[in-house]
Amino acid sequence: MTMLVGLVLLIAGSIGTVGPSFAALPEPARLEEGHALYERHCTACHGPEGRGDGKQALSLSPRPGNLISAHTSAKTDQDLLKIIANGRPRTAMEGWKDRLSDDQQMAVLAYIRSLVRFSRSATPPPPAP
Ligand code: HEC
Repeated sequence: MTMLVGLVLLIAGSIGTVGPSFAALPEPARLEEGHALYERHCTACHGPEGRGDGKQALSLSPRPGNLISAHTSAKTDQDLLKIIANGRPRTAMEGWKDRLSDDQQMAVLAYIRSLVRFSRSATPPPPAP
């Protein structure tokens, strides 16, 4: 048992020092911040659980992405942070780099990653374009 705890701490410790992969094991405080930012800025389009079913989503074309889909999950942190920072051309997704600090953008991404892990059912198909 002690050994197991030691092992977990060792793994957690090494992940912590690698830097960019922090999102693999977000600290509760970062998740908390990411959650608050997400609710404030992203839920209207991407929906409370990231499924792309926010209140504003119906009126948008193309529809907001389903952030817990394999399509999004397979992207690297760098890819997604770039989209969060700069937005996505020809969609309603605006860049957030002027409104959120780098740290806030990373926190919100960590929260999105956590939605995948804790979502209850299998991922539904993304909304039709
Ligand atoms: C006005 C509606 C709107 C808001 C607000 C919004 N998004 Fe988006 N988002 C979109 C649309 C539309 C797309 C493009 C469709 C797609 O890429 O799947 C998109 C795409 C994305 C993608 C890319 C998904 C992928 O797989 O490439 C990410 C990541 C993302 N949004 C994160 C966020 C975050 C984080 C916030 C809040 C800080 C946010 N969005 C706020 C509409 C919105």
